[in-house]
Amino acid sequence: MSPIQDSNHQPDKASPSDPNSLSPAQAADLQQRAIAVAHHAYAPYSHFRVGAAVLLSDGTIVTGCNVENASYRLTVCAEQAAIAAAVSLKGPQIRIRAIAVANLNNTASQPCGACRQTIHEFSTPDTIVFFPGEKGTIAQTTIDKLLPAAFQLTTEN
Ligand code: THU
Repeated sequence: MSPIQDSNHQPDKASPSDPNSLSPAQAADLQQRAIAVAHHAYAPYSHFRVGAAVLLSDGTIVTGCNVENASYRLTVCAEQAAIAAAVSLKGPQIRIRAIAVANLNNTASQPCGACRQTIHEFSTPDTIVFFPGEKGTIAQTTIDKLLPAAFQLTTEN
């Protein structure tokens, strides 16, 4: 597995001070599942095959891939597919402990803005996000760093 980069985490070491941190083996497993499901992607238009593996707070792992459409804007991103599958499987109370995103194009790629908002919906502030970094590395951060000003619906009453 490539080294994990993050300013707050030692590469490939679980941080004892961070109760949410994953062990290297857990992180590698999540990453491998994201790569595996990316092979199922339906991406005939972009040829950019993406997979996402979500580790829920109860330990369940659910995966999803991107599903494109001839009407391009109907495309579903891998993160959104994985999260929709997780809600379908476990219900609306799910919390994401970590999500790994991978692509088969060997290129750095961060979750898009829409996916950040979707991840945020089911996250805690320290939900971990792994994504392909520069030069084949795996970058690690938190959803709050990726989307510090997420939209939150507040209504009167
Ligand atoms: N894509 C994802 O699956 N996740 C992202 O976070 C960004 C983009 C997909 C959508 C589309 O099928 C392809 O990558 C190219 O944009």
